[in-house]
Amino acid sequence: MNFFDTAEVYGWGASERILGGCVRGDPSARPVIATKFTPLYRFRKGSLERALRKSLLRLGLPRADLYQVHQMDGLRNIPRWMDAMADMHEKGLVGAVGVSNHYPDAMAAAIDSLAKRGLKLASNQMHLSLLFRRHERNGLIRMCRDQNVAFLAYMPFAWGVLAGKFSRDDPPKGFIRHRVANRRLVERSEPLLRLMKDIAWKKEGRTVSQVALNWVIAKGAIPIAGVKTPRQAAEDFGALKWSLSQSEVSELDAASDALGAAPLKTLWTS
Ligand SMILES: NC(=O)c1ccc[n+]([C@@H]2O[C@H](COP(=O)([O-])OP(=O)(O)OC[C@H]3O[C@@H](n4cnc5c(N)ncnc54)[C@H](OP(=O)(O)O)[C@@H]3O)[C@@H](O)[C@H]2O)c1
Repeated sequence: MNFFDTAEVYGWGASERILGGCVRGDPSARPVIATKFTPLYRFRKGSLERALRKSLLRLGLPRADLYQVHQMDGLRNIPRWMDAMADMHEKGLVGAVGVSNHYPDAMAAAIDSLAKRGLKLASNQMHLSLLFRRHERNGLIRMCRDQNVAFLAYMPFAWGVLAGKFSRDDPPKGFIRHRVANRRLVERSEPLLRLMKDIAWKKEGRTVSQVALNWVIAKGAIPIAGVKTPRQAAEDFGALKWSLSQSEVSELDAASDALGAAPLKTLWTS
């Protein structure tokens, strides 16, 4: 629980400012901070350095431990952004270079571009949960493992549905949540949620949200859990104290498969 992920676009800078306010102080106690550059509507290599410097000002940090290109804006632009990343690494403003929402061909292009500068791609941040398994099926997780690139899994709770916080009588509310994680998804996910509860309740102290995180970990990925309260943080942290057995992972896979194709609508970049 020492890794925090943010982006320049989250709250249009507010997320970086708030996180920066939390981590100021003793540098030896500082967590690992990752943030992201949004390439959309940016066309010059120099815009990455300008964006990074603004992010660092908001975070109040001398460098980003992990700096990621938030989404792919065309295969032919990858060398430009990776070259700019390598420059920032040389200047000491970036600890490690990552990407996000990069499919296998885009990730391969990023790896090649960085290799020309003697650098390795550290991570690819992608959507993964029991309700969104595209990257298990398209080989990206395997490719990350083979290339020693960390697969950082976002939305591991499908916006709360896999934390077991909703029911058909108490469905998700709010416009954006409604678009992705709605009553239909909650109803459709009921058999999977029942199995997750069975697995969680076999041993005292385990919870459904921990099952969701441990399934992601079992796939070889590092989940980025979206936590909103200290209670959620403490509960989700508990996932690190136990792991799923291989047969539990297989049962969860089967229950997820039984829901049919792509139960969760994708975000536009997923
Ligand atoms: N690279 C990208 O394109 C991209 C896209 C999306 C997300 N991300 C990253 O991934 C992170 C996580 O994704 P996310 O927050 O969108 O989705 P998420 O992790 O699937 O869901 C987060 C929600 O789950 C609920 N939750 C978490 N722990 C819980 C618990 N123990 N009990 C009950 N509910 C619990 C909370 O709902 P309530 O708010 O209702 O309490 C929380 O807001 C983001 O913060 C971001 O850093 C990256």
